[in-house]
Amino acid sequence: MDLVKSLGIRTIEAVIVFFLVTFLPGFPPNMEFTAFSVAPSMPLKGTLELNTKLNNAERLLDGDIKGPEHIVAYNGELYTGIHGGEIVKIVNGKFVPVVKFGRPCAGLWEESVCGRPLGFQFDKNGNIYVADAYYGIFKYEMRTGTSTTLVSINETIDGKTPKLPNDVAVASDGTVYWTDSSTEITLEDGVYACLGDGSGRLLRYDPKTHTNEVLMYNMHFPNGLALSPKEDYLLMSETVRSRIHKYYLKGPKAGTSEIFIDGLPGLPDNLKSLGEEGFLVPLVMARDSENILIFQLMGPYPLLRKFFARILAAIEVPLQYAHKFFPHYYLQRAIHWLGHFESVSAMSPKRTTILHLDLDGNVVESFHGNDSTVSGISSVEIFEDAFYLGSPYNTYIGRVKLPLTLKKTPVKSVKE
Ligand SMILES: *[C@@H]1O[C@H](CO)[C@@H](O)[C@H](O)[C@H]1NC(C)=O
Ligand SMILES: *[C@@H]1O[C@H](CO)[C@@H](O)[C@H](O)[C@H]1NC(C)=O
Repeated sequence: MDLVKSLGIRTIEAVIVFFLVTFLPGFPPNMEFTAFSVAPSMPLKGTLELNTKLNNAERLLDGDIKGPEHIVAYNGELYTGIHGGEIVKIVNGKFVPVVKFGRPCAGLWEESVCGRPLGFQFDKNGNIYVADAYYGIFKYEMRTGTSTTLVSINETIDGKTPKLPNDVAVASDGTVYWTDSSTEITLEDGVYACLGDGSGRLLRYDPKTHTNEVLMYNMHFPNGLALSPKEDYLLMSETVRSRIHKYYLKGPKAGTSEIFIDGLPGLPDNLKSLGEEGFLVPLVMARDSENILIFQLMGPYPLLRKFFARILAAIEVPLQYAHKFFPHYYLQRAIHWLGHFESVSAMSPKRTTILHLDLDGNVVESFHGNDSTVSGISSVEIFEDAFYLGSPYNTYIGRVKLPLTLKKTPVKSVKE
């Protein structure tokens, strides 16, 4: 009896705490919470059958770099953007800084000062277009060493400033399509983007008028982009929803979008075009019918998501406040870790996956790994008969031998 009674009181206390935390006004984070649902993961059968094609990955630059989020081959060399804010190129097994858009910083936990290059792309003249998560969209002319700000992080576009520029896709006429993963939170607080509603946008920068136009709104962490071979449509990963959108640029459907593929067995990140052969889609976090990601499971329950977001903020905000008065290295590192995606990825199944989709959005082949030699893949590049695998967390670049099926695929990293 006593046990039941005390449990009863505990339950009431818990309910009171839940309601206080959830409904007290003015509590951070200041986000919207409405119900959404995510399509269940497609079964790992047929072309999605598990295999070990990504096992036994080699690790390049092991321990020398942190977070090579996007990898691009250009002119016989590999480039990547790393924590610390630099775009670097790999020369003779070492990395050489190329350009940085952020400011000098004391360490990686000062990510917002350092800057964080995520997606980038070359044009045919060797200029690099870069999305820096904290500073905006840039064009760097390698020949002259000059960088130009195309879109500042402070530029108001249709009433809102970007908070998390993530990827670029540059068309042959110089038009820059880019994603802003959130208009509410920065990369350091990526976890909140999983709990709150999507506020990300797909945008188009016109190099002639230097203006931006919003093409899609309210996306749940829009991420990697890839243009079709004819540049008549654009694909965009919507990471938190495990799906990819197709946005029409030309033809009768221009300006409209549809779902290209839904129910992916994980979270899609940067996309890699294979020309007429389709696209490669690395999944930065895995999921399947047994391992449902907690923030997707909570999608239909906005109050629960709000509760967790506020609990997280209730831990994080006092730490940030304490840090103002007692700046401390460990405190800052703790805050950095708490809000970051890295803390969420600890919960997903240990499977590494890249999908090969055809131009109609069918999975033609999948590449899996389960030996943890490489994990958390956000980017795949094909270079010298190998897959080069990037990640927002890893301290290395993964390399696995190119599967035979892709060996004959002519792949261009730069549009001619
Ligand atoms: C954006 O605005 C903030 C606040 O005014 C300022 O501190 C920061 O330097 C600006 N950043 C850039 C890249 O212009
Ligand atoms: C990896 O997958 C293979 C085949 O699918 C299986 O035989 C092996 O036990 C798995 N290894 C681990 C570590 O789960």
